[in-house]
Amino acid sequence: MTIPTARPRGPEDPAARAFDVTVDLLSRYDRPGPRYTSYPTAVEFHERFDEAAYRERLADAARAPDDPLSLYLHLPFCEERCSFCGCMVIITKKREVATRYLDYLHRELALLAGALDGRRRVVQYHWGGGTPTYLAPAQMAALHDVVTRHFEIQPGAEVAIEVDPRVTTVEQLELLRQMGFTRLSMGVQDFTPVVQQAVNRIQPEETTRALFDRARALGFESINIDLIYGLPLQTRDSFAKVVDTIADMRPDRVAVYSFAHVPWIRGNQKKIDAADIPVGERKIELFVEAMTRFLAAGYVQIGMDHFALPGDELARASAAGVLHRNFMGYTTKPATDMVGAGVSAIGDVRGAFAQNVKKLSTYYEALDAGRFPIERGYRLDADDRLRRAVITELMCNFRVRREEIERRFDLAFVPYFSRELDELSAGPAADGFVTIGDSGLEVTPRGRLFVRNVAMVFDRHLREKSTERPVFSRTI
Ligand SMILES: C[S@@+](CC[C@H](N)C(=O)[O-])C[C@H]1O[C@@H](n2cnc3c(N)ncnc32)[C@H](O)[C@@H]1O
Ligand code: SF4
Repeated sequence: MTIPTARPRGPEDPAARAFDVTVDLLSRYDRPGPRYTSYPTAVEFHERFDEAAYRERLADAARAPDDPLSLYLHLPFCEERCSFCGCMVIITKKREVATRYLDYLHRELALLAGALDGRRRVVQYHWGGGTPTYLAPAQMAALHDVVTRHFEIQPGAEVAIEVDPRVTTVEQLELLRQMGFTRLSMGVQDFTPVVQQAVNRIQPEETTRALFDRARALGFESINIDLIYGLPLQTRDSFAKVVDTIADMRPDRVAVYSFAHVPWIRGNQKKIDAADIPVGERKIELFVEAMTRFLAAGYVQIGMDHFALPGDELARASAAGVLHRNFMGYTTKPATDMVGAGVSAIGDVRGAFAQNVKKLSTYYEALDAGRFPIERGYRLDADDRLRRAVITELMCNFRVRREEIERRFDLAFVPYFSRELDELSAGPAADGFVTIGDSGLEVTPRGRLFVRNVAMVFDRHLREKSTERPVFSRTI
């Protein structure tokens, strides 16, 4: 059976070819799997990688003072919890909780700057959450002051923030522009009233549009909007309307995330009635609907789940095959090292991941003792670095160039990956998701929807993992 499409299309239409997905294929490929914002994924992090190990990595990073840095700040607060939310958030209306948190975040930034010892050049600077605009303007300004005291945001840097249009004021937007923020990412998810009720997130279209227009008038260069497909009570028709509304607003980028339904990790998702969640064929239809409409509206597909206007930097990088991906998402500004601050933030420094503790009390305790609040991490070995390069190429640029990998890692691709190539031939290649040639691998337009499954073939840790306990959301 072929999934029905929104309107008749010719076979030459790449989007149409991508839809030719049978129920049988779905049942074979729609299974739990990582989204590969990192490789190895965070489930491999362990407590043997501790504060001392992190300090050692930072000292090594400090030996390259001119290399660019990425800096991520996690601002976890929200006033109310959306029941679909899978992020690390702290729900409170008590403003003093954030005041104390910021005091410690300032201290952590000072500690980081000290350990990096003069390495200050930042080319990618993100505030994520939670909801960074939960903070009062004065708190935002004070935080940015601390950052710029310790680090130099480079001209042309990617300076971005996640904003929830329900709580963001024009005063905050004006301040962000003054502070040099040029990119906004707005959470929308869905405008359909019954869906909004089902996920405890009431967000009228008019107020979102008004804030969007205001942001444009203030000169934000790049505005992204987040949507989620697979939310309870979404239908093809309802989601089609949402997509058309968004396409009409003309954001520079749109993320169309697959709903990660992980109630065993995020208890708030238990409030959603599982019977209302579209799965399998019904879920994929939603993505296909969004993809068709965004492509028809002049957007190009970026990586697995993003769309961008052709003039956008991401679209240009994608066309040139030089897109990158890190914990902040797809980017055109790869820095050799990424440092994170705030609870649960993840850094990627000199070949090691390091994640901060998630509990406020533990975070404060560590900083009171002058220690980095590291909970766990992972140091990559040579095989991890190689597989990371392969998986990143697949997720970003939908291909792997054999010669490039051989040159970078000094090995012969085919013998090294003989097991993976056999597995690909028997599965994803036979199903038309990927082609295997002398020059390497190429994910087909139809395979883009399944790129997580293709990447999973190269994931050594996943292979070694027991499948008894659910860890990841489903791939489709
Ligand atoms: C930190 S939140 C966004 C910022 C802001 N708090 C808001 O909600 O507008 C980042 C994005 O993660 C996505 N997200 C959150 N939970 C998700 C889930 N369970 N599955 C897929 N995407 C999710 C949403 O699209 C959300 O906009
Ligand atoms: S989706 Fe955004 S506003 Fe809602 S709980 Fe998650 S972080 Fe907070």
